[in-house]
Amino acid sequence: MFPLKNNIVLDRQANRNLYLQLSDQIIGFIKSGKLSPSAKLPGSRRLSEDLNIHRKTVVAAYNELIVQGWIETLPSKGTFVSNSLPIINPSSFSNTDSLNKLKLKSNFLFISRPNLFCGSSRTPKNTEQLIKVNDGSPDHRLAPIQEIARTYRNITKKRYSQNLLSYGSTYGNEDLRNALATYLNQTRGLHLDIDNILITRGSQMGIYLASQLLFTKKTRVITGVTNYLTADNTFEDANAVIENVPVDANGIDTNAIEVICKIKNVTAVYVTSHHHHPTTVTLSAKRRMHLLQLAQQYKFAIIEDDYDYDFHYSNAPILPLASNDYNGNVIYIGGFTKIIAPAVRVGYMVGPKDFIDEAAKLRRIIDRQGDTLLEQTLASMITAGDIQRHCNKVLKIYRSRRNLFCSLLKERLSDYFDFEIPDGGMAVWVKLNKKYHWDNVVNEAYNHNLELNPEWQRYDPNNLGHNGIRMGFASLDEEEIHEVIDRIQKVFKNL
Ligand SMILES: Cc1ncc(COP(=O)(O)O)c(C=O)c1O
Repeated sequence: MFPLKNNIVLDRQANRNLYLQLSDQIIGFIKSGKLSPSAKLPGSRRLSEDLNIHRKTVVAAYNELIVQGWIETLPSKGTFVSNSLPIINPSSFSNTDSLNKLKLKSNFLFISRPNLFCGSSRTPKNTEQLIKVNDGSPDHRLAPIQEIARTYRNITKKRYSQNLLSYGSTYGNEDLRNALATYLNQTRGLHLDIDNILITRGSQMGIYLASQLLFTKKTRVITGVTNYLTADNTFEDANAVIENVPVDANGIDTNAIEVICKIKNVTAVYVTSHHHHPTTVTLSAKRRMHLLQLAQQYKFAIIEDDYDYDFHYSNAPILPLASNDYNGNVIYIGGFTKIIAPAVRVGYMVGPKDFIDEAAKLRRIIDRQGDTLLEQTLASMITAGDIQRHCNKVLKIYRSRRNLFCSLLKERLSDYFDFEIPDGGMAVWVKLNKKYHWDNVVNEAYNHNLELNPEWQRYDPNNLGHNGIRMGFASLDEEEIHEVIDRIQKVFKNL
């Protein structure tokens, strides 16, 4: 018989009860085939003496195993591993090599997508001294988490909240859709009602749903070069052919788009009109009107990804293309991830009703509905003016961070970097002097406890060699900005 006595290890300091530690380990031995079906287990008295634990602990562990169906007790015969468990061949689990292989390799076919990128599956331990310069995320330390928690708590206390816990509309929480209709009409000059809104989990879900509905094999999407890589990935995954046009100081080149439209069918144009990703430039008024006119004439969709609308520093935000769309060409995408924090996975897609209805059907088979309680919370906060207040507050903070970051970049690092002060957004598009290579800069930066946007290659998938990356300033406070600039200076001294 497999000797439990020598193989069970119990930790009296652990958080888990001893009887559960014991039952867990016996389950492990059964699963690995070390204890085979019908194997007799020692009596509770003997096992308690062998393991130097109370007999009641063994009895509790055995009871747990009986309830779960792993073992059974036969009157006046003893306790046995259940006979009805599938027979496991112990040899296949006998060494750690085969166990490790099992964790890594599936025994079935599936479709892999080598062109998609998903980042690391584990969060690296955040050492206290390491400062990360991201590619333009909000400062989650400023998120109005207390207000969110208070509103959430108030909602869950009310009797009607019970309804919010059951299945709801695939289109998203109705109060949020109503609140958003009013909010977007007031703040962005849109003219929509609730039927034009689908709540999503962040902007990315909107880009995905739109792509799945718009593209089939050989359909064409026009994007700027360079572009937001995740959007490109999403279009490729929907089998679209990506056609690139240049981006200059006035945004995406609409004349180049017109040239393509004259000779090829175009299904959609993707734009980050307010602050182009990655270069941060704003699409000029003239090009906006041109693009809308082309969309009407050639009947293509404009996917307007307005991911960071609220953060424009130089003048009032420029109204989205969607505000001038009188022909049903624009699919407008936005969300709360940049306003509040990336973890608040609530966004929206706005478009003509027939399109939104199809998107809702598709959404239903991916994710039945959103997080209704959180959506209700955001609805209340929009209606109470809390979201707008928060935007106004962080806008001021981010503006002064942009000013500080850019002035220090200019003053202390202009030998290495070339950049324009962005009118909005959360990042500066920084071009590294071509004497240097980002690989070397990023690697040396780690020696100074600085992480400089390590995925820099994704800004140049076409290998144009522009040497540009985005450096996010919004998530760094004043002290951190000074520290980052100091450390970058040291990096270049060592190169
Ligand atoms: C241009 C652009 N679009 C969409 C997204 C995705 O945003 P969300 O987190 O709301 O899905 C991002 C995220 O950084 C972005 O930069």
